Amino acid sequence: MSISALRAVVLISGRGSNLQSLIDAVRDGRLALDIRAVISNVPGAAGLRRAEAAGIESLALDHREFSLREDFDSALARRVDERRAELVLLAGFMRILGPAFVSRYDGRLMNIHPSLLPAFPGLDTHRRALEAGVAVHGATVHFVTPRLDGGPIIVQAAVEVRPGDTPEALAARVLVEEHRIYPLAVKWFTEGRLSIRDGRVFRDGRPVR
Ligand code: GRF
Repeated sequence: MSISALRAVVLISGRGSNLQSLIDAVRDGRLALDIRAVISNVPGAAGLRRAEAAGIESLALDHREFSLREDFDSALARRVDERRAELVLLAGFMRILGPAFVSRYDGRLMNIHPSLLPAFPGLDTHRRALEAGVAVHGATVHFVTPRLDGGPIIVQAAVEVRPGDTPEALAARVLVEEHRIYPLAVKWFTEGRLSIRDGRVFRDGRPVR
């Protein structure tokens, strides 16, 4: 990794396969990112072991130890800032972050969501997509704003829904796309190619959608 690589912190809650896609992209030289730390709000999350295996600092910050959401958020922000992160990446981070945290990292806080937003914000997206009978489903990388899963979209990938699909089968195909588009969106950010104007993302000066 070059010394000029952008400093990032990745926030997770679980297995960390999207984290792994970022680690792999850095390792393969596709992404100039210095992942300073991986922080999980769930102690023992499998993703923490992926960080350790990659030689990245891993730490748990258990949200259950805080009675107020704002206190958890400030403890989290403190850890992020101590690592001088220029970019904060949510990768399967299952806590809602309050407006103070979100505005602190305005324009440099990204999330990956397993649906074609604005369709199916929130949880259980694959089952809901199947129940709605959509023909196309997918994944979205977006900047985070205080509106849940409602921030400016950076990139999306579509996946065809197949007859007889189960939520698990569909999730597995969407996940392949997640692992492709998250490192891509982060790469564009590290290259300074993304900007946000009037709630829309521009890449190389052109609106992305
Ligand atoms: C992914 O589908 C992500 O889009 C969603 O939660 C899942 C996390 O998976 N927010 P992983 O922890 O990255 O494997």
